[in-house]
Amino acid sequence: MSFFNFNFMENFIAYNPTKLHFGKNVTTDLGKASLEYGKRVLLIYGKGSVVRNGYYKLIISELEKIGASVFEYSGVQPNPLSTHADEAAELARKHQIEVIVALGGGSVIDTAKVVSLCVREKHTAWDVMTYKVEPQTSIPLIVVLTLAATGTEMNHFPVLQNPKTKEKNGYRNTLTYPKHAFLDPNFTLTVPADYTAYGITDLIAHALEAYFGKGDAPLSDRFVAAIIRESMDYAESLLADLQNYELRARMMWSATTALNGLTAYGKVSGDWGVHALGHILSLLYDTPHGASLSIAYPAWLRYHKHILAGRLKQLAIYLFDNEDIDSMINRLESFFTSINSPVRLHEIGIKNSQKAEILALMNKNKASGYFHELDDAAREKILNFMF
Ligand code: NZQ
Ligand code: ZN
Repeated sequence: MSFFNFNFMENFIAYNPTKLHFGKNVTTDLGKASLEYGKRVLLIYGKGSVVRNGYYKLIISELEKIGASVFEYSGVQPNPLSTHADEAAELARKHQIEVIVALGGGSVIDTAKVVSLCVREKHTAWDVMTYKVEPQTSIPLIVVLTLAATGTEMNHFPVLQNPKTKEKNGYRNTLTYPKHAFLDPNFTLTVPADYTAYGITDLIAHALEAYFGKGDAPLSDRFVAAIIRESMDYAESLLADLQNYELRARMMWSATTALNGLTAYGKVSGDWGVHALGHILSLLYDTPHGASLSIAYPAWLRYHKHILAGRLKQLAIYLFDNEDIDSMINRLESFFTSINSPVRLHEIGIKNSQKAEILALMNKNKASGYFHELDDAAREKILNFMF
């Protein structure tokens, strides 16, 4: 029985041009993929985990095999900065780069996506992120993923923050789809337990943002439920055995499918209200993205308990075969706790005395969903649930 009126699927275009190479040692095809675009490569990576863990050496040797000239931009930080994207774009112009290879997690890949749009047309990253300019061309981007979380490896959304204006924005442009994405679960064996858990909360949040989007698309909703159940089924064993290739592979693919379009067909867009709230915590306190979401989602669900009763009951049935909304929220919350992802602000050292500053930035940035809009009063009530 459906708990909500029967509407129709929205019109949609199913388009995803990224060629995704999944599995053991797939990066041996990186050189061939790069040659499709050129030999002058800008390699972008983070603060050194890829060097320490040997992935950097592997990628360099694949590029050396095709005689590539490799230039490097490193130092991308978690919750990445638009100013770093500008620096990398300048480097790319200077060396007439023909292809960008991003080696890392979401922060590295998102930075590389924006760099790819800035180089040729000499845009600044924040003009792109705020739609002040409409890039018409991009430098081809190849990604090598080292952290299962964001799904950015197979979508057209980068997220950057502007350290000057204290804004953290998402952006969409189909030019940022990676041409190739290499996902070797072996590259994620070294992700520590905390970021493994934050990746799981992030993928669950992506699936939920799609579920609460505008439009009635039951098959997409079932994909949402399947992805969430898959990640909940394997989370505990994975966190007990971080070196397990098979479990890493299942989580990696769940994270990709949670934000590569599959869960959104038939919907106008996802809601993204919880992400907007979570980004404020990352802006203020550099909270890891996934940790901000395991705090914000239960609060957002509790606030919407009566407003979205039909959708929440349906979700409870999809996830736990039981329509009780409170029990569904409590079970999601205890799952986050079971993987050591925080569910209250005090767990990440944020005190009641900081409530005003959080609320002020949430209101200044008008943190809200596209479909379930939030006003100041709603943001305050949701924030109260986070303490
Ligand atoms: O910088 P290094 O030294 O590489 O260390 C990173 C970083 O400290 C480390 N790490 C990455 N791969 C590793 C590893 N450590 C050991 N072994 C490995 N294999 O992990 C830390 C976190 O990396 P980061 O890239 O920041 O994590 P994640 O992939 O979760 O990306 C988070 C960013 O993505 C954005 C978030 O807002 C945040 O800025 N998102 C992007 C989305 C998109 N483009 O579709 C959607 C998401 O909702 C999200 O907003
Ligand atoms: Zn996210």
